[in-house]
Amino acid sequence: MSVQDLGDKVILTHPDDKSSTATILKYGATVFSWKLNGTEQLWLSDAAKLDGSRPVRGGIPLVFPVFGKNTTDEHLSKLPQHGLARNSTWEFLGQTKSDPPTVQFALSPDNANKELTKLWPFDFVLLLTVQLGRDYLKTDIEVQNPSTTREFKFNWLFHTYLKIEDIEGTLVSNLVGVKLYDQLLKQSYIDKHPVITISDETDCIYQNVDENRLIQVVDRGQPVHTVKRHNLPDTVVWNPWTEKAGGMADFEPKDGFLQMVCIEPGHVHDLITLAPGQSWSAYQLLYKEQLKYQAI
Ligand code: BG6
Repeated sequence: MSVQDLGDKVILTHPDDKSSTATILKYGATVFSWKLNGTEQLWLSDAAKLDGSRPVRGGIPLVFPVFGKNTTDEHLSKLPQHGLARNSTWEFLGQTKSDPPTVQFALSPDNANKELTKLWPFDFVLLLTVQLGRDYLKTDIEVQNPSTTREFKFNWLFHTYLKIEDIEGTLVSNLVGVKLYDQLLKQSYIDKHPVITISDETDCIYQNVDENRLIQVVDRGQPVHTVKRHNLPDTVVWNPWTEKAGGMADFEPKDGFLQMVCIEPGHVHDLITLAPGQSWSAYQLLYKEQLKYQAI
């Protein structure tokens, strides 16, 4: 069986290789494990809560309708950091394809966290499609506005925690020349570094990254992750490093930041406005690809 519903989570197994799997927690529709030929690709904290008591620290949490903390929008500013999708139990709609195994999850005000929808009282439908390919993991999102009268504004982001061996031997490529907002320095500038290396807390929003640019995570010359984006112009690069990881109760081991980097494709620099009856869709594709320096 390529899809198993275990109550609180769903496991996809690739029919051609039983050691390639994806596991999705219904809480947050969070993919918290993706194994390729038996090797885990996503970072998950040892202290991550998988019981619905808080968003999962690791895997691919979903950020909607607000990225970070909004301070200006009347309704979005009432929501906690990163919104309500990662704090809600999604409905498992079932399998839509058997090969490659593909499943769908849905969230609307009917099943979303009531405390949070009270704060952001809009009608919405989110449809997440997860597909486990032989050598890729694709997550598609569709946001619908079923209202006949009222528009809403939102951000979307896949908060992807990628597992790596050692941050000190790792670089992130193909973001040179892109304008970014550094959330720590609170400054915008153009990244002139041919590649990004991380040796301290990093929290940067790269804006309007050309869709044809693949973002690659390279470990000592070998590309270990390739991230392709559709309709997701911004990419956050985040690593909490020592102090921030130390302050997060659900971040374990405390030096776990050495084995992870978040590459987060999203639409977060500005808000998307969705008119009544309209829908918006985007995807993230994680896969293996040869080293491609598209810009140095
Ligand atoms: C990143 C943000 O997307 O998520 C960071 O850019 C934030 O500012 C990080 O610290 C983790 O957020 P949280 O709410 O999961 O601790």
